[in-house]
Amino acid sequence: MTMTAEMTDPTTRPSASSESGVRHLISIGDLDREAMLGIFHLADAFKEVAERPIPRVPALRGKTVATMFFEPSTRTRLSFETAAKRLSADVMSFSASTSSLEKGESLRDTIETIDAMGVDAMVVRHKSSGVPSQVRAWTKASVVNGGDGQHEHPTQALLDCYTIREALLARTPENAPGPEDLRGLRIAIVGDVRHSRVARSDVLAMTALGAEVMLVGPRTLLPPSLDGWPVKATADLDGVLDSLDVIYLLRIQKERAQAALLPSLEEYHRRFGLTRERAAHLDERVLVMHPGPMNRGVEIAPEAADLPSSLITRQVRNGVLVRMAVLFHLLGAGGPLPTTGVGHLEGGVAADA
Ligand code: NCD
Repeated sequence: MTMTAEMTDPTTRPSASSESGVRHLISIGDLDREAMLGIFHLADAFKEVAERPIPRVPALRGKTVATMFFEPSTRTRLSFETAAKRLSADVMSFSASTSSLEKGESLRDTIETIDAMGVDAMVVRHKSSGVPSQVRAWTKASVVNGGDGQHEHPTQALLDCYTIREALLARTPENAPGPEDLRGLRIAIVGDVRHSRVARSDVLAMTALGAEVMLVGPRTLLPPSLDGWPVKATADLDGVLDSLDVIYLLRIQKERAQAALLPSLEEYHRRFGLTRERAAHLDERVLVMHPGPMNRGVEIAPEAADLPSSLITRQVRNGVLVRMAVLFHLLGAGGPLPTTGVGHLEGGVAADA
């Protein structure tokens, strides 16, 4: 995909909304393999931009992106805002704790107020599943799900898969064709899958890209039902560790757990954490990932997070590139995102805490 002309000359851009209606990214299930690979190729193109002394292109000049965060966030919000600025969009930043929500304004009024100011995209994070989907009815802007309750976090899954693909490409000998997708990889997602929107989006994205996904955790932290999930599940981390290509550790979501689901954090670390001992025996080819923020010493030992095979910092860096690609797709000349889609995970979403 060559985007250079459109990226450097915004006058060649067709208007997204006048051509094909407003576009959104709510769930990974709205995308298919080709749409995901399209985003990766675009992110590859933006990598070159990020390395320039002035890492900015005029692709979204005149557009406004609002980050609407009703739940705390550091990296996701900053990542979206950096991505928007690198595309020369204007950025509006809304934060629930400093807003009129505190004065009792409803979510709908808040969205309609921001909409009236004229924004082209809203990135919405909320503690309740389904809010970004609902917000579409209240605004003319494109809506991007920045993480909703226990439901989905589609841009996290895109950046995770992009980061794995990048690591595979880096291992490919020169002149050999690099892997396009994640076919043949064995990935374990370990820990609090039950409360994790990241896990839901990652399962959909990774399996659509050809990987085999294994969920690892105690029963209490796995979804109540795995009906329709294209995964296997086990409570025996040591039993699968040697066969993995990627180990993806999840944060224990204390803010979403309704009851004590764990005996103790020490016990959890011993059974399901990437401990110092496990890290010492881990094959150096096994890629280590975590979406952040990390609880060092709970799901991951400090030594494990800092292994040479750890992609955790890469994930953060690539988050900006992938979000540039998504915003460009939605607001610029990137073409429509949703196609037939890979489907959705039916079972297993417990009620939000
Ligand atoms: C994740 C989230 O908020 O869903 N973090 C993130 O987006 N960087 C994962 C988490 O909070 O554990």
